[in-house]
Amino acid sequence: MSASLICGDPLKLTEELDELRKAEIDALHFDVMDGHFVPRLGLYPEMLKAIKGQTDIPIDVHLMLDHPTAYVEKFIEAGADLVAFHIESDDDIAETIKFIKSKNVKVGLVLKPDTPLDMLNPFLSEIDLVMLMAIQPGILGQKVIPETFFRISDLSKKLEDYPNIVIEIDGGVTPETAPKMVKCGAHLLVCGTGTIYRPHEDTILNKVKELRKIIDTTLA
Ligand code: DX5
Ligand code: ZN
Repeated sequence: MSASLICGDPLKLTEELDELRKAEIDALHFDVMDGHFVPRLGLYPEMLKAIKGQTDIPIDVHLMLDHPTAYVEKFIEAGADLVAFHIESDDDIAETIKFIKSKNVKVGLVLKPDTPLDMLNPFLSEIDLVMLMAIQPGILGQKVIPETFFRISDLSKKLEDYPNIVIEIDGGVTPETAPKMVKCGAHLLVCGTGTIYRPHEDTILNKVKELRKIIDTTLA
């Protein structure tokens, strides 16, 4: 489980990070948006640096930018443990992967819901993670696109020869969809407004525990 920080309460960031640590969340998901590749704006490197100074939880940066290459270094300097960028972006994909790896940071490629999985083919031996969007990127709180489940299964088959590549799903994760995603082959789920940040009286810590339990019991 990866906590989607953009869904949090900016005024409670310190408390929320502490709860996520107690909940032993696997990763933090840090959304960066340019208002053009996707309609809204997202988080920024100075914020990443501040968070990095407060936590040991690995931070995965998700760049939703037309031109990710120009910004990669800023996020690496700020402390990104993994940088994922969209395969639909306008920059040279192979060069950007190479640059990120040269900095000893993990690299992921992200696919929008309609992007064919075969676009990954030239890069499979170079990457650490594939992130499938289960929604159109950039808008929080959308319902999962149903084809996502087939796409996860197809990707999982496709990656049989690449057992080290992590399959991450971003968007539309709820207590109902999460176990299905895992069953189809997902390893890491971005948890946002549908789960650990959903408006609810309960604490983030309890919501993480609850989701973990739901996934474990459904899969048992
Ligand atoms: C959407 C972001 C997600 C976001 C998903 O573009 O990349 O990280 O958390 O939102 P929810 O969790 O509301 O589906
Ligand atoms: Zn994201």
